[in-house]
Amino acid sequence: FGESLNKRQVAFFTDNVKNSEAFRKVTVFDTTLRDGEQTPGVSFTLDQKIEIARHLSEIGVDVIEAGFPASSDVEFQTVRKIAGENTGAKICGLARSVKSDVDRCIDSGVDMVHVFIPTSEIQREHTIKKTHEEVLEIIREIVDYACSGCDQVMFSAMDATRTNPVELIEAYMAADEAGAAVINVPDTVGVFTPSMMKPLVSQIREKVRCKIDVHCHNDFGLAVANTIAAVEGGADQVQVTVNGIGERAGNADISQTVMIMEAICGISTNIRTEKLVETSRLVSRLSGIPILPIQPVVGENAFSHESGIHSHGVMSDPKTFEPGIMTPEMVGHRRRLKLGKHVGRHAVRQMLSDAGINPDEETLDRIIFKVKEISGKGKKVTEYDLFEIADSIMGTS
Ligand code: KIV
Ligand code: ZN
Repeated sequence: FGESLNKRQVAFFTDNVKNSEAFRKVTVFDTTLRDGEQTPGVSFTLDQKIEIARHLSEIGVDVIEAGFPASSDVEFQTVRKIAGENTGAKICGLARSVKSDVDRCIDSGVDMVHVFIPTSEIQREHTIKKTHEEVLEIIREIVDYACSGCDQVMFSAMDATRTNPVELIEAYMAADEAGAAVINVPDTVGVFTPSMMKPLVSQIREKVRCKIDVHCHNDFGLAVANTIAAVEGGADQVQVTVNGIGERAGNADISQTVMIMEAICGISTNIRTEKLVETSRLVSRLSGIPILPIQPVVGENAFSHESGIHSHGVMSDPKTFEPGIMTPEMVGHRRRLKLGKHVGRHAVRQMLSDAGINPDEETLDRIIFKVKEISGKGKKVTEYDLFEIADSIMGTS
């Protein structure tokens, strides 16, 4: 009861949700293997892609975008292999709005074809050199064509957020009428803010019957916030990547997006959240992109406490200096008390007593003095160092 009350209170204060949202479900579309692999310097091998796909499926991702089959033979074979794995998640492939790309996608055996075309003036003029009317015609034709070979077709208006809103809605209505199961709203260069995203998605919601998906880039650090705003505006599906990897500054991070929906907004997903830290570490290892210690949810410090006041607080009740609605166990993490120049006596006493070391108060003071002295010089003090310090002061070694 305490927990659900807490969620409602948070929802109320953050003005995030109506009460009905407690029963809402949003599906998770992961593009780590497609947009994530477009991170400069990242290239997964076939085996690595299969390992990631199996893992994503195991943690409950609904749709996995496995790649862009028409981009190369290797990519085609990779997507085909992943699609043949029957991992449980739906497998999606990306295609430009040309029939040969769609054919390649369908031949790779995917469950969903994701066709895209630029709709903003700048991208239309500089990439495909087409007018808005020509683009509308291509959308109708390609969505219809893709639907004839695949049950699930998603249409993306690339650079949606820099597209004239009237033209954008026309593009989505054309895709909807041609049979798209999902339309995707990409903030391709990450220029939107949450207060722009929510009304845009609400407007689109009024005009199309199909599902709405959102794909946000992180150029201004707003990918997760914009994704959540899209959900508030009525999006049914979120596109994410593990650790937020992707083109330039990346995409919306899966852990943050899912935990905000689950813990703050009271929206459910199929994700086994207790696997999020493991997932993040797997993709960090395979991509070579490190996880920052201060990365929300999965970073080393996400549930670590150093200052005396904070450590003492969480020792008596973790909710004092943690969100409470998100615990370390919920995401597969561990709470840690850290040693440093701000460490307090309660934390040191607890860490020592956990190891069976019980100094008297005066000895404890000397141990703390030593810890602060060392860390004050900028050196890291580990738990092991603490035991050594205690041993040397207490004369047990
Ligand atoms: O950022 C983008 O617009 C994309 C599309 C292919 C959806 O990645
Ligand atoms: Zn993208």
